[in-house]
Amino acid sequence: MPKREALKVVANVAVGPYALVRVERGGLDPGVPGQFFMLEAPGRPLPRPMSLCQAPPGELSFLLEAVGPGTRALAAVQPGQEINIFGPLGNGYRLDVEQPLLVGGGIGVAPFPYLSQQLGGPPAILGFRSDWHAEAAALVLNARVVVEPTLVTELLPEGHDVLACGPEPMLEAVRELAPRAQLAWEAPMACGYGACYGCSVEIDGVLQRLCVAGPVLEAVA
Ligand SMILES: Cc1cc2nc3c(=O)[nH]c(=O)nc-3n(C[C@H](O)[C@H](O)[C@H](O)COP(=O)(O)OP(=O)(O)OC[C@H]3O[C@@H](n4cnc5c(N)ncnc54)[C@H](O)[C@@H]3O)c2cc1C
Ligand code: FES
Repeated sequence: MPKREALKVVANVAVGPYALVRVERGGLDPGVPGQFFMLEAPGRPLPRPMSLCQAPPGELSFLLEAVGPGTRALAAVQPGQEINIFGPLGNGYRLDVEQPLLVGGGIGVAPFPYLSQQLGGPPAILGFRSDWHAEAAALVLNARVVVEPTLVTELLPEGHDVLACGPEPMLEAVRELAPRAQLAWEAPMACGYGACYGCSVEIDGVLQRLCVAGPVLEAVA
């Protein structure tokens, strides 16, 4: 059941170019890997959707890439500061898979530490644009790393249950190679729970709210 709470920041650690923000868990449920939380960025009117990265006892953590004003404000939070957080929201990954393989690109690595932990450390293939960005792979057990110009899709073995998260072109390429993959998509989200229609995207020819129908969708319905 999603809840909204003001949670105290425990630590903010740099992981390559990303910020790993750890907060006290309070009464929030970590939910299923791939679900997301709406984080209120200090000084910004709208919250920003973030995947849960880790759920150690008593804490929740989020891995952030500062790409604009909201993520810059969140990536700058200091221990002791409070952030309003609402979640868990949306649909996460199905965990009833026989041969899981995590496939991620860039900040798409964010939900994988928690997902990997819940699946018992399956193999992962992670792609990054530089060695600096690839430092985030240390958060994921059993990860094989590729750096551009090599792409994760060049290493994709057959016969696995692929769970993917990353930029849209990567997800499209994964979908071609692994038609049963579970893919975590992104769209700008203002509410996170189906009220604003800001995240409407076309899914199987029908406009749907990604925050309710996803963000994780089966490649083939
Ligand atoms: C379900 C979900 C989970 C996410 N998890 C994470 C996470 O764990 N870590 C993380 O760093 N980011 C994550 N994101 C993306 C993050 O929410 C956006 O980068 C953030 O909202 C941008 O806000 P901003 O104010 O910093 O930048 P803005 O100024 O709002 O945006 C900067 C640029 O990014 C584009 N943009 C903004 N939001 C999105 C989006 N959701 N999809 C595609 N393009 C977008 C804008 O058009 C603009 O070009 C997630 C998004 C979704 C939908
Ligand atoms: S974010 Fe408001 S409906 Fe999806």
